Amino acid sequence: MRFTTSYAEAAEFGDVHFICVGTPQQAGSDAADLTYVDAAFTTLARHLRRRTLVVGKSTVPVGTAARLIRQVHELSPVGAQVELAWNPEFLREGFAVDDTMNPDRLVFGVQTAWAEERLRAAYAPVIAAGAPVKVTDLQTAELVKVAANSFLATKISYINAMAEICEATGADVHDLAEALAYDDRIGGRFLKPGLGFGGGCLPKDIRAFTHRAGELGVGQAVAFLREVDGINQRRRARTVDLVRELAGGDLVGVKVAALGAAFKPNSDDIRDAPALDVATTLQKAGAIVTVFDPAAMDNARRTYPQLSYGESAFDVARGADVVVLLTEWAEFRQIDPGAMGEIVAQRRIVDGRHALDPAEWRAAGWEYRALGRP
Ligand code: UGA
Repeated sequence: MRFTTSYAEAAEFGDVHFICVGTPQQAGSDAADLTYVDAAFTTLARHLRRRTLVVGKSTVPVGTAARLIRQVHELSPVGAQVELAWNPEFLREGFAVDDTMNPDRLVFGVQTAWAEERLRAAYAPVIAAGAPVKVTDLQTAELVKVAANSFLATKISYINAMAEICEATGADVHDLAEALAYDDRIGGRFLKPGLGFGGGCLPKDIRAFTHRAGELGVGQAVAFLREVDGINQRRRARTVDLVRELAGGDLVGVKVAALGAAFKPNSDDIRDAPALDVATTLQKAGAIVTVFDPAAMDNARRTYPQLSYGESAFDVARGADVVVLLTEWAEFRQIDPGAMGEIVAQRRIVDGRHALDPAEWRAAGWEYRALGRP
C-alpha cells in the first residue's frame, strides 16, 4: 500500500479509483456540502489519460453522479473513456475493517457491464468470501445509502418516541423494546432507547435527504424524517430535564459528573455527539459540569474548551451532586455503584443510555433515573 498527495501519480497508477471524501452538512442549511466530492472528481479527471473507472463511495444527494459524469467527461483528456460508478459505503465507525471485509452487501451502481466487471475484480476476495452483490443504476445506488441510514435513524427514533409515551404512563421502554425484539420482523438491532443518535452520518444524512427530496418536489414522501430528527433532539432536552429533576428543580451551582463525550462507545468522534450537547446545555443552565471519556478527551477539549475535564469516571464523580451517563462505554457499565457511592456528594444517577442495572444501583442506595423507565 502506498500513499500520495499527488493526483497525477494516482491517475497514472490506478485502473479503478475510489473517491471516499466526506459530505458534511452545509453551514446554515440542511443540504450536504459537496465541495470535497466535486473537487476530488474534477481534479482527478484532469489527470486521467486512459480508460479508467472512477467510483464514488461518498454519501451524496441522488443525482450527483449524473452531474459529475458530465463534468468528468468535459475535463478528462480522454473524455467519455472515463466511466463513473457509485458504490456506497455502509461501514460503521469502530467496525471499519470488519465491515469492509465482511459487508452485509455490496451495491454497484453502474452504467455498463465493463464497470461492473471492474468492480467485481476490485472486490474479488470479499465476493469470494460470500458478500452478496446488488447491481443497480447510479441513482438507485446513491439512494440505497440514504435510505438505509434514514431507516436506521427512524428505528431509533421510533423506540425513543415509545419512551416518551412510557414516561407519560409509567411503562418501561426497556422492557417494551426487549419484547418487540422477539418478533423477527421487527428485530432488536437499532432499537435501543436512550439519548438517541449522533455522529457524522445519521443526523446529517436524514437532513440532506429531506432537503434533496424537497428539491425534487417529493418532500412530503420523507416529511416524517423531520419528526425523526425532532424526537431525537427531544431526548437530549429530556436528559437535561431528568438531571434537573434529580437535582431538586434547579441546576444553578449543581455539580454534575458527565460520563462520556463520544457520539458512541469505541470511538473518539464527537461530531454531533449527544453527550456533549447535554453537557454544554447543563452548563449553560448553571450546572458545574466535569466530563470524562475514555477516548474522546482531546477532541472534546479542543471543541468545547469551556467545559471542565477529569482523569477518570471516579475523578469526575468525586463530590458530584448528580452523575449522568451519556456514552455507554464498557468501563462505565462495570462501575461498582457501592464504590462510586462513597465519593459522590449525592447518590443520584441519570442513565442516558440504559447501560446500567437499575436494581443494582438502587440496592446500593442510588436514586436511579433513565429515559422512558419508571
Ligand atoms: C452509521 C451506520 O450505522 C453505518 O451503516 C453507515 O455506513 C455510517 O453511519 C455512515 O453513514 O457512514 P455510525 O455513524 O458509525 O454508522 O454509527 P452507528 O453505529 O450507526 O450509531 C449512530 C448513533 O445511533 C450513535 O450515536 C448511537 O449511540 C445511536 N444508536 C444506535 C442508538 O441510540 N440506539 C441504537 O439502538 C443504535
